[in-house]
Amino acid sequence: MKKKIIIAPSLLAADFSKLKEEIQEVEKYGAEYLHLDVMDGSFVPNISFGAPVISAIRKHSNLVFDVHLMIENPERFIKDFVDVGADIITIHAEATKHLNRAIQLVKSYGKKVGISLNPSTPVEFIKHDLKNVDMILIMTVNPGFGGQAFIGDMIEKIKKLRALDKNIDIEVDGGINAETGRMVKEAGANILVAGSYIFSGDYKKKIDSLK
Ligand code: DX5
Ligand code: ZN
Repeated sequence: MKKKIIIAPSLLAADFSKLKEEIQEVEKYGAEYLHLDVMDGSFVPNISFGAPVISAIRKHSNLVFDVHLMIENPERFIKDFVDVGADIITIHAEATKHLNRAIQLVKSYGKKVGISLNPSTPVEFIKHDLKNVDMILIMTVNPGFGGQAFIGDMIEKIKKLRALDKNIDIEVDGGINAETGRMVKEAGANILVAGSYIFSGDYKKKIDSLK
């Protein structure tokens, strides 16, 4: 069965001086998820925002809050993100020595859990965790910044993962636009994160073009 395509605008590319309005716009035009990029300046070479910002916007949106943790040892902060209203919490396979334990911790709060893979991390690395998680996030750029170019080699990786698991949600993140969006969907991805593409204008047209 073909999986429904879900669009997840990345707030990182929104105008931070009017987050409430930005979120309500993408919600109105058919996005289902809001992708929230949390960066610690250590796992990735950039700092973004954390739980207090997510708490402030939670009351203004019914979107599924899809929290992408780009932080070292994410176990330390999972409860904070649960408490501010995260619906899906994604941790990087490279960011903890005890990935399985971190997965169980997210699940213990009744939240959906995702695992993210940097471009160089092979899908085999998480083969034994597929049955334990709701979603795999394939990074199609090196995490840390919006507006980077899509890494073409990731198409083969998405195909490989889809062959390993027909049902799991496969999210892609980085460099997604109408063209790369079509490529990743063909390869088997069903959740598309897009930041600079959507928030650079004409939100409705951009969201429609990714579906
Ligand atoms: C990058 C983040 C992405 C980023 C994507 O580390 O995880 O979610 O916002 O931005 P674009 O869509 O501009 O590549
Ligand atoms: Zn992200």
